[in-house]
Order: sequence, then structure tokens, then C-alpha cells
Amino acid sequence: MTVPEEQAAATPTHPESGAQATVPSEATSRDPFDGMATDADTPLAAELMETERLRRSIEATDFPRPPQTRVIVVSNQKGGVGKTTTSVNLAAALASKGANVLVIDADPQGNASTALGVEHRAGTPSIYEVLLEDAPIASVVQRCPDLPSLWCVPATIDLAGADIELVSAVKREYRLHTAIEELLEQDGKNLDYIFIDCPPSLGLLTLNAMVVATEVLIPIQCEYYALEGLTQLINTIDMVKRHLNKNIHVSTIVLTMYDQRTNLAREVAHEVRSHFPSETLDQTIPRSVRVSEAPSFGQTVISYDPHSPGAVAYLAVAREVAERGAAAGGAK
Ligand SMILES: Nc1ncnc2c1ncn2[C@@H]1O[C@H](COP(=O)(O)OP(=O)(O)O)[C@@H](O)[C@H]1O
Ligand SMILES: [Mg+2]
Repeated sequence: MTVPEEQAAATPTHPESGAQATVPSEATSRDPFDGMATDADTPLAAELMETERLRRSIEATDFPRPPQTRVIVVSNQKGGVGKTTTSVNLAAALASKGANVLVIDADPQGNASTALGVEHRAGTPSIYEVLLEDAPIASVVQRCPDLPSLWCVPATIDLAGADIELVSAVKREYRLHTAIEELLEQDGKNLDYIFIDCPPSLGLLTLNAMVVATEVLIPIQCEYYALEGLTQLINTIDMVKRHLNKNIHVSTIVLTMYDQRTNLAREVAHEVRSHFPSETLDQTIPRSVRVSEAPSFGQTVISYDPHSPGAVAYLAVAREVAERGAAAGGAK
């Protein structure tokens, strides 16, 4: 990354007033055309209309379904870049368009389980029992309350020790692979997508996910140091490809928390696109208050505020993911 220091220092943070200028206020985003006749040429009104236009075009589009289950690991060993937010909202966006989607929460923090509104108190049957006690996935999976075709394998605090406990387990890198293969042969054969939300590390939990996935989705936060650590992640994926899973590849990069007003965000996006031209999605995810508050209601932003800019951005990301998958492998 070659962002000069002065520029990084000069980059404005997100003053409340500034945020209002381009991220439409959610209070007004429900009826974006209301009262616009007089001020449709202001940046805010133009953006609201653009968001609503995009939402309507997505609503009117059927997403292609993949010919077979796509197993996608969401990974980046940096914390706070939007792995969990992207896993749950992308999954919900696809499910809202009719796909059968399973999210496996492989992070001991259990944030994906929280956002999807599923039980994950200590003692709840979870991914821990799958990885360490050979429980079938079908015995621990929960249906998410908001969407009938969205399921979650929760993570509880028990998972915190799993990276260490797995070290002495038989076939320790293949535990999740075995469980998912069994699921796909039986109850899970109609699943269109499985997303695995990884912890911010490259330990055995992430490795288990990479051994079973065919695709890696990397969320990159558009900020200084965004590309730091990416080389290590790519090297890990290459190592997995050479020794454990020849089918894995980086299929998708999503730029998250993108603020188009800052030079820094634009520069990071440009840099990422120049390194990963075919993997980086056209659609970026804006910073949005609704996205960050949805989990505290046990919801994804897709059900919490479907008209908000963050929800519409995730729906657009979902459309790209579905269409690119169909282009790569043929659709149902
Ligand atoms: N588009 C967004 N707008 C606003 N806040 C966001 C957005 N994406 C993520 N966040 C917030 O950033 C923090 C980190 O996101 P998270 O998805 O938990 O990252 P990770 O799983 O990579 O650690 C969370 O508090 C989340 O609510
Ligand atoms: Mg997370």
C-alpha cells in the first residue's frame, strides 16, 4: 500500500454532519421519493433516489441459483474488517431472494449467531460439538427467525479453546470437511450456499474452513493498512491449495465500510482493484449506521431496514455473487 502519510493523516474521519451529506439518513430512507420534487438535485436526494432505483431493480431480478452448493469461506486475519457483517448480510440477501443458505459461525465470539438471532448461550449444541465430538451438522443447525431459507450453525464460548483442542484431534484439518460432506449427502443437499464466518486468525478453525471451501471471500476495509496481512492470507490459501484442498481459490473481494468522499478510500479501492481486477466486486459496501445497529436487534440489515443504503448494497453484492457464480459454473 502506498498511501502517503500526510494523506492518511489528512483523511477526514466520519464527522456526523459529514456522514449526513452522502449516507442518506435512515429516518428518511423509507420513502426516498417523498418531498424530492423541490430538491432532487441535492447530493442527498440524488443518492436516495439512486439507492431506491437500485433496490427496485434488484427486487425485480431473479438471482440465478448455483448448480451445486457453493461453499464459501469468509476470511481475513485482520479483525474488524467486516467478515461477520458480510457473512450474515450477504447470506440473508441471498436467502431473501429464495436461495437456501447456511451460515456456519466458526468464530468463538459468536457474532454471526447473534446477528442471525439464533440461540448460542454456553451449552447450546454448536459448531464445537461438530468439530470436536463428531456431532452431525443437522443436529446443531438452527433456522433463523427472519427468513425461512436461512440457517445457522451457532458458535458458543466453548469454541474459544477449539484451536488448541483440535491440535491433538484425529484428522484435525478435515473435521469440518467430513461434517459438511455428510450434510450435503443428506439433509443439506438442497443448500445453494454455505458461508463460513472465520475468526481473525489463521489457526485450525480457519484451516478447517479452507479445507472444505472451494471459494474464499475476502472483505477488505477501505482504510490505511488495508492490504497489510493480505500477502500472508494469500500465502496460507496457496499452502492449503498445494497440500490440503486443490479446489480452493479466492473468488471474491468485497470492499467494506467504503466512504467515497475520502481520497484514502478511493486509493485503497484502486489499489485492491489493480491487484485483484477480476475478484473485486463492482459494488462496495458503504459505512452505514443501520448495518452496525442491526445485530443488537438480533437481525441482519436485510430484515432490519431493507431500504437502507447498507441493505441495498448487500443485495447488490449478493446479485453479483450469484451472477458471477452462474457465469463460472452454469445456473439451475
Ligand atoms: N458497512 C458498515 N457500516 C457500519 N459499520 C460496519 C459496517 N461493516 C461493519 N461494521 C462494524 O464494524 C465492526 C466490525 O465488523 P465485523 O463484521 O464484526 O468485522 P470482523 O468480523 O471482520 O471482525 C462491527 O462493529 C460492525 O458493526
Ligand atoms: Mg467477526
